[in-house]
Amino acid sequence: MEQKLQAIALEAKNAIGSAQNSDELGQIRVKVLGRKGDLTAILRELGKLSKELRPVMGQKVNEIREELTALLDAKEADMAKHELAARLEAEALDVTLPGESVKRGRLHPLSIVQGEIRDIFIGMGFDVKEGPEIEYERYNFEMLNIPENHPARDMQDTFYIRDGILMRTHTSPVQVRTMLSESLPIRMICPGRVYRSDDVDATHSPMFHQVEGLVVDKGICFGDLKGVLDEFIKKFYGSGTKTRFRPGYFPFTEPSAEVDATCAICHGKGCNVCKGTGWIEILGCGMVHPSILEGCGIDPEVYSGFAFGLGLDRLTTIKYGITDIRLLFEGDTRFLGQF
Ligand code: DAH
Repeated sequence: MEQKLQAIALEAKNAIGSAQNSDELGQIRVKVLGRKGDLTAILRELGKLSKELRPVMGQKVNEIREELTALLDAKEADMAKHELAARLEAEALDVTLPGESVKRGRLHPLSIVQGEIRDIFIGMGFDVKEGPEIEYERYNFEMLNIPENHPARDMQDTFYIRDGILMRTHTSPVQVRTMLSESLPIRMICPGRVYRSDDVDATHSPMFHQVEGLVVDKGICFGDLKGVLDEFIKKFYGSGTKTRFRPGYFPFTEPSAEVDATCAICHGKGCNVCKGTGWIEILGCGMVHPSILEGCGIDPEVYSGFAFGLGLDRLTTIKYGITDIRLLFEGDTRFLGQF
């Protein structure tokens, strides 16, 4: 029995010595010290021994149990330390590595210019309205004095959703919507997308942007229109900018005017942006036609108003010297990243 005990002890010590990980150590612990383990088996056999030998062997078994337990514990602690060190090494994060930078988006040039226009008009007490891009033909045309067969319809051919419903060709129908639904006085601008069935080239796109403006109140006159638009253009292009009002024609205003500003590039000397004239056309405007007020339930004997419409894409391309309108709609970040 003594020999068997020594053999168990030796085998266990070797196994502990060569164990590679804590799993193996655990198996050895069970095999040697467990309830069905080698040492327990020996203890069971003690009964076969003489009364004198029994306590002697019993003590030896216990000594060996203690020795092996201590060895296992020590090796296990050692292994845990190494395993932790290995894991820390393997999972190490180098916090000194520079992070991957997140690419930040920025405002589209059209949004920048639209924001500037908004700010200027909000500063003059205007509200900012929105209207639908899919619009009643009636609001887009008839209620703006553009009946069927009117030549203006030719220039504003568009996409029809179905009979009577189309993609709006301008932001002017928002004038009608506002007059129909809001109480007076009205002082609003409305930026938005508009559509026409134009072929794409450097200056045309079937989708583009306008900003509409409308003021309706008692006693509004052409002087108010001139004052507001002159102020807007000076705020937008700089206080040295001059404005020029030329007679124009729009079915929904009477009288109508087209407004030029001195070229922001050459300050009126003449360059290729203003085609040598020193002036750049900015917008169309006029006094709201009495029949339009009437059609929206506003008494033109009591109220009057002015309206204007400007091309946002045009103002943006002029402002930034962009020579091809398509660049605004292609979403190329190499281009858009410059603003
Ligand atoms: N809706 C016109 C267009 O698209 C622009 C315009 C001109 C709007 C004069 C107005 C205005 O409100 O008074 O060509």
